[in-house]
Amino acid sequence: MKLSTSVTLASAVCVALATSDTVCVPSTGTSSLRDEAERKDILIGSGAINPAYLEDAQFAAVLSEQFNSLSPENELKWSFINPTKGFCNWTIIDRLVDFADEHDMVVKGHGLISSCCDPDFVLDITDFDMFRQTMVEHFEAIMHRYHGKVDRWDVVSEALLDMGGGFKNTTYYHMFGGSRYVGEAFRIAHSADPTARLFLNENLVETIPEKRQEFYDLVSGLVRDNVPLHGIALQMHITEIAPVPGTIKEMVDFFTNLGLETTIAELDVHTLNATLQTEIYGAVMEEALAAGITDISFWGFTDKHLYTWLPGAKPLMFDEEYNPKGAFYSTHKVLAEFVQQA
Ligand code: G3I
Repeated sequence: MKLSTSVTLASAVCVALATSDTVCVPSTGTSSLRDEAERKDILIGSGAINPAYLEDAQFAAVLSEQFNSLSPENELKWSFINPTKGFCNWTIIDRLVDFADEHDMVVKGHGLISSCCDPDFVLDITDFDMFRQTMVEHFEAIMHRYHGKVDRWDVVSEALLDMGGGFKNTTYYHMFGGSRYVGEAFRIAHSADPTARLFLNENLVETIPEKRQEFYDLVSGLVRDNVPLHGIALQMHITEIAPVPGTIKEMVDFFTNLGLETTIAELDVHTLNATLQTEIYGAVMEEALAAGITDISFWGFTDKHLYTWLPGAKPLMFDEEYNPKGAFYSTHKVLAEFVQQA
């Protein structure tokens, strides 16, 4: 669905579609996040985009108006894109990539190795060489198909136990005889597409100091071993307890010293307190931008399609009808007022 010319009415913005239909969404009464971000060379994105949602014209209109990057939710995870040996479900991700292309948006690949969603034909492999070769073929199939269209990838997500205290005992960990699967995954990804920027995605490091230290040790080791790692994707699924002020800057400084980019990949705020949510969105954005982060994504943008573990929480910045919430305005304000250091 290609969107074109927009007209602002009293409280709605209406966009003429290529099909000659019109779609109207609530006006924010402001410039878009995307406009503010692009003036400062910042990627502002929504993750968790199930391509099926794009059939909803309002969803598509707000997504392309407000954001200049997107990433899929589960659809690039192994069992979704390649559920059985020899079959890849390309049409779904093709749809996302085509949408991004039509709207001049960056696609961030999420899910090459995730902590869920491996298909049975992979889990059933018992021979190490065959397992590694299957990883190579999987990475090559995906990264070759989207070469030049998806050039930022989360290669490994959630290698560490959620609350810290070691690595998850996944099939990869088991087959490689320990944590060296992480570095190997990056080497395989780099061979598949040497032009791509490769990220290590992790949760809760902004919240749990012991896990943060564990993550620092993991990342330092990867860099020491010359693993082709280009950056860190901090998830930032936040509750009522926001990261302690200074933590984001501390992390950015640490990773910058190792020559790595720091990004935020999945920001959202899970609380029933809307005022607190507004404040936390603003505070995180403010510290992230000041620390030098130039790629920030949220885990979705409308509460119509939300992910949460907290019953009743509405963690995103637009409501179910695409009305902007306080979280939109605090995010917008910080982006609009941000002044980059020379
Ligand atoms: O597709 C099946 C469907 O066939 C079945 O009927 C249904 C029954 O429960 O399950 C469906 O699969 C669900 C899948 O999402 C697709 O909707 C899984 O149960 C469910 O566990 C899965 O949850 C996803 C979760 O990752 C685990 O993969 C969430 O949608 C997704 O938002 C979440 O995303 C993760 C990021 O990848 C990594 N960072 C954390 C983030 C939130 O947990």
